[in-house]
Amino acid sequence: MKTVEWHDGTVKMIDQSRLPSEVVVLELHDYKEVADAIRTLKVRGAPAIGVTAAFALALAAVQSRAKSREELLSGLHEAAEFTKATRPTAVNLFWAIRRMMDKAESLEPLPAPAIVEALVEEAVKMAQEDEETNRSMGEFGASLISDGDTILTHCNAGALATVDFGTALGVIRAASEQGKRLKVFVDETRPVLQGARLTAWELQQLGLDPILITDNMAGHFMSRGMINLAIVGADRIAANGDVANKIGTYTVAVLAKENKIPFYVAAPFSTVDLSIATGEEIPIEERNPEEVTCIAGQRIAPEGVRVANPAFDVTPSGYVTAIITERGVVWPPFRDGLRQISGTCDYPTPTRTNEERQ
Ligand code: MRU
Repeated sequence: MKTVEWHDGTVKMIDQSRLPSEVVVLELHDYKEVADAIRTLKVRGAPAIGVTAAFALALAAVQSRAKSREELLSGLHEAAEFTKATRPTAVNLFWAIRRMMDKAESLEPLPAPAIVEALVEEAVKMAQEDEETNRSMGEFGASLISDGDTILTHCNAGALATVDFGTALGVIRAASEQGKRLKVFVDETRPVLQGARLTAWELQQLGLDPILITDNMAGHFMSRGMINLAIVGADRIAANGDVANKIGTYTVAVLAKENKIPFYVAAPFSTVDLSIATGEEIPIEERNPEEVTCIAGQRIAPEGVRVANPAFDVTPSGYVTAIITERGVVWPPFRDGLRQISGTCDYPTPTRTNEERQ
């Protein structure tokens, strides 16, 4: 099945907190349960969070007993605020909720049941678009990958982080489907281990035989020429190309630059937030200290120790070689490139030599 699906008036999703030991499918009937699944990382990854939030609003509409469109819209506003409060960094969450609310408000002259139907349709359409977007991103990104490349990825930007196919892993998958032979190193990605639990699992399912490393090993392999390209996803990209992604991404980017390795970011255009000028304005989620003091429920730190647990960091655009989107590959200067692809026309992918890529 897909990571998250609309199924007969319910939301079905793979419970990612249980992977890889168990594949459990949840069937949720209430938008608050869906929002809770986002908060507790049962579903995670920016594009998947966006589509799940759209499903939460569709569910709120289906559940509603409103007799008038005013009542329905007021209930939807409440559900939107509740869902927005789950995770602050991935802009896809806010983008998806805005799109659903715009849809609901644009249908104001219709009676309430017609609005409900239109909202379900819109959410299902967003899920389909997500998959198409990722396949297109995969095609653009695969052109940057050569036969024999050894690639490092951080966190999980695979099918599980989207409805299907993935962003950064989608690029790897598309390149592999073109017959390119690849070796993929996977950072385990502490504290919640999305790399070890999800990316390693996904790559195994794809037959790509990944090599799992702890987060502090990447520099070692890069310095020995054993990694020649890094690719990650993103949770929010500012207008100047600064990239918020899973904590530890900045470290990978700095190491890549130091070792003259291209550092690519693959993300749908819905992850680009042109309303903010730089990464400094991106809100960074602070998560439960227990994610740091415990691993798989086992305490590893002394009682009473103070903990910091930012879930994301910001990689300044100067470390980013290119941003791969479904509309094309954007090269520096990102401010111009991102603005150009925000229009309706497709932006051609310029060709670069290996030296220029770094
Ligand atoms: O905390 P998570 O697991 O939601 O963080 C996910 C990431 O940081 C991903 O790299 C990002 O959302 C891109 S997913 C295509």
